[in-house]
Amino acid sequence: MSTDKLQQPLLVVEDDLALQKQIKWSLDRFESVTAHDRESAMTQVRRYSPAVVTMDLGLPPDADSVSEGFKLLEQILAAAPDTKVIVLTGQNDQSNAVKAVGMGAYDFLAKPFEPEVLNLCVERAFRLHHLQAENKRLRAMQMPDALSGLVTRDPQMLRICRTIEKVASTNASVMLLGESGTGKEVLARGLHQQSNRKGNFVAINCAAIPENLLESELFGYEKGAFTGAAKTTPGKIETAHGGTLMLDEIGDMPMPLQAKLLRFLQERVVERVGGRQGIPVDVRVVCATHQNLAQCIKEGRFREDLYYRLAEIVVEIPPLRARVGDAALLAHSFVRRFGGEHGRSLTLADDALRAIESYSWPGNIRELENRIKRATIMADGNQLTADDVGLAGADGTEDDRSLDLRLTREAAEQRAVLAALARADGTVAKAADLLGVSRPTLYDLMHRLGLKI
Ligand SMILES: Nc1ncnc2c1ncn2[C@@H]1O[C@H](COP(=O)(O)OP(=O)(O)OP(=O)(O)O)[C@@H](O)[C@H]1O
Ligand SMILES: [Mg+2]
Repeated sequence: MSTDKLQQPLLVVEDDLALQKQIKWSLDRFESVTAHDRESAMTQVRRYSPAVVTMDLGLPPDADSVSEGFKLLEQILAAAPDTKVIVLTGQNDQSNAVKAVGMGAYDFLAKPFEPEVLNLCVERAFRLHHLQAENKRLRAMQMPDALSGLVTRDPQMLRICRTIEKVASTNASVMLLGESGTGKEVLARGLHQQSNRKGNFVAINCAAIPENLLESELFGYEKGAFTGAAKTTPGKIETAHGGTLMLDEIGDMPMPLQAKLLRFLQERVVERVGGRQGIPVDVRVVCATHQNLAQCIKEGRFREDLYYRLAEIVVEIPPLRARVGDAALLAHSFVRRFGGEHGRSLTLADDALRAIESYSWPGNIRELENRIKRATIMADGNQLTADDVGLAGADGTEDDRSLDLRLTREAAEQRAVLAALARADGTVAKAADLLGVSRPTLYDLMHRLGLKI
């Protein structure tokens, strides 16, 4: 069935079976399926997702009127708006044909039709459908403007960008989970920009502010509320009115404040410290953490009810080492940026690129950014070496075991075999081809490395 969908055939909807045959025959260079009434047509639409449909407006049970035809047209376009529908009408039915086009039909032809004209019309419809699908595919690969500063080609990251784009205009609270330096703030800002909310983007780091100050930072305070409260000051939540509030490191928020935050999220009203009056605030909340919140909940350090309020949409950002090809891509982009800032045209040497690709980046993009920044300052020539980015010999110096040739070879073999098996979807013969060894050799290897078939 899925291959049928891929081909997206032509659907011919015609209740007069002789005519149906004739149409199919005239269009025999296109792969086609048929239907004779509205119900069977919709079944075919769902089953084959046809790219092009030719249809009669007069369909049973009321073949003399056009009501079934219009209903079908409406249903097809609702189910698959990209379908190109060509309406075949009687000679004196121009007004209905025009109405059909007004409803979204691609074109109309009067019966009896010239086979060449019909062919041409169907061919153009197929071509347009193909172009639009291609265009859609290309657009899906492009980054939305709000995330234009984000460099990635990793499929998982691109999917995350799509999610951010989709939920941006809603009020859903978004939770960004990811290791330090993976771009949580970049995504949060992108979400805000894409949301068209007029207010500010305000971020507060719950881990960086001492517990006793966090409450007044978040909720603000009235003059005289405590020693040192010289004047009434609005909190971060209020400042974000009409905009987006980012609660960074939410996992570090102390329990008493969690209760207060929950109350705010339920009632959308803040009360400043020392104040008596509730102030209504409209904010979109985004939170982020590198902590495992499920664990925090289990240990009683994080409120489960607050979690569900904050986690309407959860986005798990992969670490840099799990993104395919991104380390090198980002490195090039940082070299261009920092080189440009110093008025130098710098490039990465091969050994630097190799080191960047094989390093595990515990500090993620921030670490990469810092290393390249430092390298652009330190480099003597126009090429940044592995030494300049501080990764020279990183593999060898970590521990002596990595100097052991046998262990190194085994680790490399295991990586290659696993990768080949994965790429070959578990087919040993194919994996052996990829590795350039015979099938028995691969079986031996797998046996030696303790890998299951
Ligand atoms: N995909 C990306 N493309 C370009 N730059 C990026 C990308 N992701 C992150 N950065 C840059 O890396 C740095 C770290 O990103 P960010 O501050 O968003 O990470 P974070 O997840 O919030 O980190 P932390 O947990 O430490 O707060 C920033 O300078 C940001 O501009
Ligand atoms: Mg951050």
